[in-house]
Amino acid sequence: MVASVSTVAYLGLEARAVEVQVQLIPGLPAFNVVGLGDKAVGESRERVRGAIAAMGLALPPKRIVVNLSPADLPKEGSHFDLPIALALLAAMGIVDAEDLADHVVVGELGLDARIAPSPGVLLAALHASELGKGLICPVAQGAEAAWAGQGVLAAPDILSLINHFKGHGLLAAPPPGQAEPIVPGPDLRQVKGQETAKRALEIAAAGGHNLIMVGPPGSGKSLMASCLPGILPPLDAAEALEVSMVASVAGTLTGGRLTRARPFRAPHHSASMAALVGGGVAKD
Ligand SMILES: Nc1ncnc2c1ncn2[C@@H]1O[C@H](COP(=O)(O)OP(=O)(O)O)[C@@H](O)[C@H]1O
Ligand SMILES: [Mg+2]
Repeated sequence: MVASVSTVAYLGLEARAVEVQVQLIPGLPAFNVVGLGDKAVGESRERVRGAIAAMGLALPPKRIVVNLSPADLPKEGSHFDLPIALALLAAMGIVDAEDLADHVVVGELGLDARIAPSPGVLLAALHASELGKGLICPVAQGAEAAWAGQGVLAAPDILSLINHFKGHGLLAAPPPGQAEPIVPGPDLRQVKGQETAKRALEIAAAGGHNLIMVGPPGSGKSLMASCLPGILPPLDAAEALEVSMVASVAGTLTGGRLTRARPFRAPHHSASMAALVGGGVAKD
């Protein structure tokens, strides 16, 4: 029997559907994960083994094969632990595969079967709500996932998930996190003189234009650039979501607090192209 659980792979700001399939085949006991996973995915084997042992369960003495489909899509990250563990528990007959069928699952596992946070939960939650499915995620990220919609199950450990599905001890739906209050940054009022440059900043802000500043060191370019977010309107809902998605993948969205402040980055002038825009090979 093949048990399968839906999860996602993150490609930039996109979450692609991935199916975790687990099959128990008669033969010498082994536990293999295939499907183009990175080192973290390969190591998830040990975390899953540890978590299942911590729950007092023994792995079946069979060949356990885990396939992450589509097999040619590169998969990175530790969030595959929980879907692999749940698919394995479904193959072992401990969890009902039908309960899992209408959920997308993400989360890292500790050796004690605790579900630890992993970056990108907001993307997974948006992906799940597009598919009309619920999301199973770490308890620490319930508030983040709840921004994307209903049907979020934020569990502290595997046992509480199993209890939820069996009907003992239901998990409450987490409320969405608070919106982060906007902390005022540098103000254009601080800039003395420079009337032409200030006018250029205002025009760029009003029209949404790019702006290049040229001038001798110490003439106030960095100061004026840092004042720009202060004269731009607050992020609208769609922009706030996009900014929060970047923060989610970077793992910096703490406590599910979405921000409405405009992001400002001041990279060092000697930063390389790859440091500014990222490296890697462009995909399709
Ligand atoms: N017009 C100005 N009004 C107030 N402070 C200024 C002005 N121009 C420069 N400064 C101050 O001088 C210092 C250097 O400015 P900075 O913005 O770093 O210059 P740049 O980036 O052009 O080298 C900063 O502490 C800045 O606050
Ligand atoms: Mg500067």
